[in-house]
Amino acid sequence: MTNGPSQSDELSLNEDIWVEIIRTMENFYGELARTQIELEQKADDLRQANEFINNIIRSVADALVVCDAHGAITLVSRSCLALLGHTEVDMVGSQLSSVFDPRAENRVCPGTKMWRLLLMSGAIHNLETDLVSRAGERIPVSLSVSVMRDKVDDVIGVVLVATNLQEIQRLLHRTRAKAEELERAYADLKQLQARLIQSEKMSSLGRVAAGVAHEINNPLGGILIYSHIMLEGFPEGSREAKTLLKIIRETNRCKEIVKGLLGFSRTSQVERRTLDLGLLVETALKSVSIQPVFNDIEIEHHRSEQLMVIDGEEGPLHQALTNVLVNAAEAMGGKGRLTVRVWREPEHMANVAVSDTGPGIKEEQALLLFEPFFTTKEVGRGTGLGLAITYGVVRQHGGSITARNNPDGGAVFTMSFPLARGQGAP
Ligand SMILES: Nc1ncnc2c1ncn2[C@@H]1O[C@H](COP(=O)(O)OP(=O)(O)OP(=O)(O)O)[C@@H](O)[C@H]1O
Ligand SMILES: [Mg+2]
Repeated sequence: MTNGPSQSDELSLNEDIWVEIIRTMENFYGELARTQIELEQKADDLRQANEFINNIIRSVADALVVCDAHGAITLVSRSCLALLGHTEVDMVGSQLSSVFDPRAENRVCPGTKMWRLLLMSGAIHNLETDLVSRAGERIPVSLSVSVMRDKVDDVIGVVLVATNLQEIQRLLHRTRAKAEELERAYADLKQLQARLIQSEKMSSLGRVAAGVAHEINNPLGGILIYSHIMLEGFPEGSREAKTLLKIIRETNRCKEIVKGLLGFSRTSQVERRTLDLGLLVETALKSVSIQPVFNDIEIEHHRSEQLMVIDGEEGPLHQALTNVLVNAAEAMGGKGRLTVRVWREPEHMANVAVSDTGPGIKEEQALLLFEPFFTTKEVGRGTGLGLAITYGVVRQHGGSITARNNPDGGAVFTMSFPLARGQGAP
């Protein structure tokens, strides 16, 4: 006969069940604890990864701003804070519009044309615009902006990366200024070189002219003497006498040319005395103004009150001034305005400028003007010695002469002379 479970059997069964339940519970709680630890570990990893990414974002060299879909700033890089002079607390939570200069074109913030374009295209690159610093300073930047979207393509934010163009612009500006400075120095050097070549050419021309003039002077003197002797042997009005008179006239013309050449190549020491340049100019003006070519010319004379005493030789200086004045009247074809200015500048120099309303000087002629025999006048009207003589005289007085065009037409010839000792000369 089988009996049912005894009381003690029943008790041990219940115990087994309980042990089993407790074991299962223990396992369950153990599993739960492990999952919990794992979860915490994962959350920690995630936090660290997040922190790591944010740190990278904060540390990028270019200014970086992240904002949400409505333009509220959520993250800024340290370089951006440094660039704009704000603190993180100031910026995070504020509106993106506050980082842009209000006057700037191409602002990318809600409500602007660029924002709409950004949302349509997803990204904008190398956009030039201006940010504004906390102090109100305008900061030119090149901007790259892109939209962040979630899995269902909704906009969750916008990332802006700004490259500061200030330094580049400053560098560009400095480079440009340097290039301009170099260009100016180069042009000055070229001008100096041209002037040196010109002055070297003029002095060798002067030596040649002086040699030729001296050589020709003697035979010309001989021709004149013998012509005069022969003339005495022929009755007045005879064919021979007329021919001899022609020879004498032409020979005298040659002598005048030789005199001009000697004037250009003047090297001899002049007998100098003190002369007032202002007075010299006034006298020269008076003497030329009675010539018919000045009849229809309006003369303007500005003479500074100051005395401008130079050491010089009156005759040659008068001739030099007269040549320039007559040239001006001839260039104007006898009609126009002649302006003569005499002034002292710098302290030890006296200057005279003769300016006319004629056609001015052609660029290609500027360097030839002072050479002997350069003339644009028709044959028989000019020998081209006027300015060569003037050049010689001015140089012999330690001065200089320049020719240039007036901005509003006409030519200006400026002569500068050192003042006599004790008159401001160093
Ligand atoms: N004020 C001026 N405006 C324009 N061209 C000028 C002026 N002065 C001189 N020139 C030019 O310079 C050239 C040379 O002048 P320069 O006085 O040496 O000789 P010229 O007047 O031609 O002859 P001359 O020997 O009779 O003086 C002139 O032929 C003319 O072309
Ligand atoms: Mg002349």
